[in-house]
This record gives sequence, C-alpha cells and structure tokens, in this order.
Amino acid sequence: MHTEIIKIKVNNIEHQKIKYAASVIKEGGIVAFPTETVYGLGASIFNEKAIKNVFLAKGRPADNPLIAHVDSVEQVKTIVTEILPVASKLMQKYWPGPLTLIMEKRNTVPYIASAGLETIAVRMPNSIVALELIREAGVPIVAPSANSSGRPSPTTAQHVIDDLKGKVDVIIDAGSAKIGIESTVLDVTITPPAILRPGLILQEDISCVVNTNKCEQRLISEDIPKCPGMKYKHYSPKADLIIIKGYTNDVITKINELLLENQTKGIRSGVMATDQTKNEYKSSNVISLGDRNNMAELAANLFKVLREFDKQKIDVIFTEALNENGVGVAIMNRLYKASGYNIINV
Ligand code: TXA
Ligand code: MG
Repeated sequence: MHTEIIKIKVNNIEHQKIKYAASVIKEGGIVAFPTETVYGLGASIFNEKAIKNVFLAKGRPADNPLIAHVDSVEQVKTIVTEILPVASKLMQKYWPGPLTLIMEKRNTVPYIASAGLETIAVRMPNSIVALELIREAGVPIVAPSANSSGRPSPTTAQHVIDDLKGKVDVIIDAGSAKIGIESTVLDVTITPPAILRPGLILQEDISCVVNTNKCEQRLISEDIPKCPGMKYKHYSPKADLIIIKGYTNDVITKINELLLENQTKGIRSGVMATDQTKNEYKSSNVISLGDRNNMAELAANLFKVLREFDKQKIDVIFTEALNENGVGVAIMNRLYKASGYNIINV
C-alpha cells in the first residue's frame, strides 16, 4: 500500500490538507494523526472494515478495544447511552485533554471498536490538527496509538513511519507530541470511578473534581482485564529492559557493575539515565531522559529514548527507577510493562 505523508504546520494550518485527510477517513481509509499525548491511527467509528484495517496494520489483538476521539460533548452523545454527572464534570474540567472516559456505548457503535464490550472509551484530544480532522470527518474517530502492537507509542511522525509505512493510507506529520505518554483511562461506569491506566491527569486531579477521595487506582489489574490492553506486553523496545531500584548511589554502582559484566560477555548495553546521573556511568551508550525533577520532561522523552536505543542496536537497557510521585506513576507504569516487570532491587 502507498502511504501518503502530509506535513502540517500547527501554527499555519493549510485547511485543504486536513480536508483531504478527512476525506480519506470518510471513504474508509486509515489515517495516522497527532494528538497532544501520542500519535493515533484513526478510522471512522462507524466503518467496521476500516477499523479492522487499523487492527491489522498494528497487529493488534482483536480483544483490545479502541478509544473514540471526539471534537465536542455533542458528538459524545452520538456514541454513548448517557453522560453521567461525574463524566460531565470531568469533561468540563479536563477536555480537551489527556483524559479518556469509559462509558456505556450505544448500539450504533460496532463491537469491533469496543472489542465486544458494552462500553466505549472516549476522549477529546487537545490538538488543533486532531480536532479539525474529526470535525471535518464529521464522525468520532477511533484510534489506538499509531505504533506496531507492543512497541513504544509514537511521539513523532517518524516513529509512525518506522512502524507503519506501507500499512496505512496517510500519516499526518505535525511535529512532536507534547505530553509523550498516553492519556489517563478512567472507568466512570462504576462508583467510585477507577483509573485503568495512569497518565498526566492524576488520581488527585480526578478525586477533587468527583468531590470524593474514593477514586480507586487499579493500576495493574492483569487478573481483571477491565482495561484489556493491560494484559499484553507493551511499550517494548527491541532490547531487554531492566529496571534498577534503590538509592541513587547504589543504583549507579549496580548499573556500572552490570555494564562491566555485559561488556565481558560481548553484550551491547545502554543506560537510560537522567541529567543528574548521566555522567556517572562507564558506558558510551547513555541517554538522558532529562531533568529528574521535571517529570513532564521525562514523560515527553520516554518513548523517544526507548526507540533511540533500538536504533543504536542495543541488546540490554538498564534504567534507573524514577520517583513514583505525580506523573512518575504513569512513567513507571510504562517502564514496568516495557520491562516485563524485570526489576532489580538494590
Ligand atoms: O493518549 C491516548 O490515549 C492515545 C491517543 C492516540 O489518544 N491512545 C491510546 O490508545 O493510547 P491505545 O489503544 O493504545 O490504548 C487504549 C487503552 C487500552 O489499554 C485499552 O485496553 C483501553 O484503553 N480501553 C479502550 N476501551 C476500553 C474499554 N471500553 N474498557 C476498558 N478499557 C478500554
Ligand atoms: Mg497503545
């Protein structure tokens, strides 16, 4: 398949380009597009064949449901049975933005989108290009992250090209995704609501809107596949990823030991570090995620750095565990999954 790559400048959008990409969606094609979190691979929510092609292009298991991207609360009403007051409050506060709400779906939403569930995940992305695309298409656009299944999510169009060129109709290139990790997924069909996937919108942000301190956090619900995506290995670079946890000095010592051990075995290793620690390692393959006091920066760089190690053909990546406060919860959730819970405590 020929993949068309369309460059769009966010501060000077040429509308006919969006119109064209939307026409591809309307005609049953699949289009990768930017959002503020990561790039998505979109199809019309009402076109079962196109949605099937999204699953095929990614190699995504059919039991992992998709997120519907909308441009307005009005559009939500076309795909869910009811917007509960708690959902309404959260939409007012955090939309457009990185918060996905699970709601009961209408019969008009095909089961292929929800992977057979009676619920549908919905969010309004905070990206002008995404919003214009949805508006122009005139329908909610279902989109998983635009990576090959199991790979780190794409934060640039180049990442999408690396994974999906030749498998999708159009890739819109509108620069880097600002946030860099996927949206918080919140199930509002149950009381209290439960976080199924942590993201930039935190438990405390949600609790204060819901006006209760009972916003449960079910981070790793492998046994309850409420968020079916949780049960698969995810976000993985080609290299093995090993998390080293402990006091910073002990972590550095341990990683240097492991580097030496691997060197004698001829294994190519790399270190995912932070600006504060990057000069402490005896390796030429150290990549910093950024300032360890700036969680937003670490999140924005995470998937890009994991993909960078692949380009350098690294076999094993040692990563420092990061602080599990605020967005750190979401970052570590991705690292745990990417490593297959391969953790060394020092
Ligand atoms: O930021 C994001 O959320 C990005 C951008 C493109 O919007 N999208 C994204 O989609 O990360 P995806 O498909 O990679 O992840 C969606 C997650 C999966 O873990 C999936 O299992 C869960 O949301 N999910 C979707 N629908 C659900 C439902 N009805 N019930 C429970 N979990 C659901
Ligand atoms: Mg994904």
